[in-house]
This record gives sequence, structure tokens and C-alpha cells, in this order.
Amino acid sequence: MQDIAEKLAPYPSLRTTVDEVLRVWPEHRRYCETRFRNDDDAFLQRTEEFAALALANVGDSLSRYVEDYRWMSERFLEEEMFFQREGRYRLSTFQEAYDEVYSDHEYMGKYMRGLLISQVIWDPHARAFDTFRREFLPALPDGASYLEVGPGHGFFLYFASRAPNIARLEAWDVSTASILETREALKTLGVTREIALVQQDVMEAPSRIEEFEAAVISEVLEHLERPDLALRSLHAALKPGGRIFIHVPINSPAPDHIYLWRSSGEFSKFVEDQGFRIDVSHDFPVTGYTLERAVKYNASISCVLIATKA
Ligand SMILES: C[S@@+](CC[C@H](N)C(=O)[O-])C[C@H]1O[C@@H](n2cnc3c(N)ncnc32)[C@H](O)[C@@H]1O
Repeated sequence: MQDIAEKLAPYPSLRTTVDEVLRVWPEHRRYCETRFRNDDDAFLQRTEEFAALALANVGDSLSRYVEDYRWMSERFLEEEMFFQREGRYRLSTFQEAYDEVYSDHEYMGKYMRGLLISQVIWDPHARAFDTFRREFLPALPDGASYLEVGPGHGFFLYFASRAPNIARLEAWDVSTASILETREALKTLGVTREIALVQQDVMEAPSRIEEFEAAVISEVLEHLERPDLALRSLHAALKPGGRIFIHVPINSPAPDHIYLWRSSGEFSKFVEDQGFRIDVSHDFPVTGYTLERAVKYNASISCVLIATKA
């Protein structure tokens, strides 16, 4: 079998990231080997571009980010054990998540740094992002207005800001701290186009009606008590025929996940019930699992939907 160092040799940013992960966390080797084993060159090349953006954000603090990635993965494992034992997420209200996670600045800092590395290392994250770049963005009409909720690391906004068919960009986040982080990230990534970053709770239907051709909500709905209200709000904000990109992990326990969907069918129905027609649906199982095995063992699956306002 080809050694991981050899396989990643043509991709310097990926190689740098994985080398550091294996230095800080040697026991993660088997996972990394499994994760990259079947990737073809074209996908690795696109992941390399993504890894280069992540490294730009990390600057000279890669070791710290990777240590926090290890710490975060261990927290996820604890949640996974609870989930397999009890059949539910440990927390179910925003207040609980706020008390345990969001209000703890040190915890949040480590969590956010860990998540950035996971964007490169975890296969479902990389594939969800790839779907956004290859299937969602290019299909938008010329002159499109783009709205994103919870832009976090700013990578979706970065690529959207470079898409020639997008005329206007706006992003909402309920947290001023997250908005500041996104603004900093966009600066580091060299984004010069104007992007309106607005403090807005997506669950409170805003007075923004039929303004956008595109909406993006990635890894946000599972953090909400009422994801139905969030989707209804985005439905209202989209123009007739507007399209939405949704990424939600199901059966995916994490310290701040509170809303559980147990199958991709259940999640698709949930989206349809909020007035969308599903055009594209991908299920990306957690690394090392086939889709069949992930379904059988209630393992995490990243559901990516592209849907149209019906
Ligand atoms: C896990 S991050 C997602 C980052 C990025 N979209 C990704 O795919 O990795 C979730 C973001 O959603 C924001 N968020 C949570 N609840 C929200 C709400 N009710 N309205 C708007 N944003 C919210 C959080 O502040 C945070 O920035």
C-alpha cells in the first residue's frame, strides 16, 4: 500500500497539515491513511487549495491548531460514547449549549481552531465543500445575490466572492464574536470584494423578503432548537426559484449539537416540509464507513442538499 507521505507528496499544504497531525497525534495515523487512501488526484488537488487557505488562516500557529484538533476529536469521542449508549444527543437546548460551550471563551477558541483543521482532515467536510464549489456555485444565475448563514471560517464566502456569476454577497450570524472572526479570516484570505456581514438570528424571520437567488447554511441547523424556523426564514428571503445549499451532519454528536435527525430521509422530508424541492442530495459517511454500514450502526453522515424554493 502506498505510504501516506508518498501519496500526499504533490500536495504541500495537505502534507504539512497531515505531517503535523501525525507528529502531535501519532495514534491518528490509521485514520489519516484510511481517509486519504481512495482520494483521486483531482479531489486531492481541490483539497490542497482548501488546505492552503486553512494554513493561511493558521499562520505560524499550526502546532497549536493541531493540538486543539486532537483535543476537539477527543471531546467528540466522549459525545459519541454517550450517543451510542443513550441514543440521543446529550444536550437539547440552546441554553445548555450556551452554558457549556458558547459562553466559555477558552473552550470556544480551542473548538474553533480544532474545527478549522477538521475541515481539511475529515473527509465528509471536504466532500461537502467540494459539492458547494462544483455543483452549487456554478449553477447560480448571472448577477445572483448570495446569502450565507453562520459563515464561520469564511471559506464558502471566499469562493462565492470569486464566482463571476455572483453580484452581491451578504452573511448573517447571531454572534458578534463569530462575525469578527469571519471578517478577520476574509482579510487574511485576501478577499477585497464588499461583503455585508450582519448580526442576525436566522430563526427570527427578518423583514428580508424575496431578495436572494442563493442561500447557504452549512453546519448550523443542528445547533438550533427550531431549525424549521431557520429554513422558513431563508425560504422567505429567497426569490421564487431561488436555490439553497444545506449541509447538516446527522447522527453526529458534538458538544454543541442539539437537534438530531436520525436518517437522511428524515432530514430530506424536514427540508421539503419547509417548502423546498430537493434537486441534489449527497450522503457522505464518516471516514472508514460505507453508507450502508454508517446507516446500520447509526454512524455520522454528512447530508448535503441543494434545493429550490418551491
Ligand atoms: C459551526 S459554525 C458553522 C461554520 C461554517 N458554516 C462551516 O460550515 O463550518 C456555526 C455558526 O452558526 C452561527 N449561528 C448559530 N446559531 C445561529 C442563529 N440562530 N442565527 C444565525 N447564526 C447562528 C454561530 O454563531 C456560528 O458562527
